Amino acid sequence: MIKVLMVCLGNICRSPLAEGILRSKVDSDKIFLDSAGTGAWHVGHLPDKRSIEVAKRNGIDITYQRARQFSEDDFDSFDLIYVMDKENLKAVQSMALTKEQRDKVHLILDVVKGTKYREVPDPYYGGEQGFDFVFQLLNEACDQIANNLLNEK
Ligand code: 4NP
Repeated sequence: MIKVLMVCLGNICRSPLAEGILRSKVDSDKIFLDSAGTGAWHVGHLPDKRSIEVAKRNGIDITYQRARQFSEDDFDSFDLIYVMDKENLKAVQSMALTKEQRDKVHLILDVVKGTKYREVPDPYYGGEQGFDFVFQLLNEACDQIANNLLNEK
């Protein structure tokens, strides 16, 4: 079982989508998935309505998810930790105690070859359109991650 954690700031917009999208592309018997936020403001909350909607428009249900905060234990519980932006990267890597833990953390868009984007922008204070763009970016990244996971097994 390979364990993959998606991380953003609030765990209500981007990482729940990343979790849901990747879940739709992998075998759940072989891959364990979860998501978390570096911040605690939304712990216990459903994903943002706009993330739920964009996922639904694309045939994905993320309403089973509830936000939680990233913790040090996640370094031991997960093999791969994908973060959405450089702020998340800094926040998560600063909690790592060993090189092995630090090396588990990756900017999610780094898996997409030739993309001009390095970060998944925070869509929280914007409109619907931002969520469509985030979905598009994450869909492309998750295609690549699903492929990588298949080759690892
Ligand atoms: P996320 O978006 O990190 O993609 O879940 C955000 C959600 C909430 C806040 C910031 C970003 N907030 O400041 O409450």
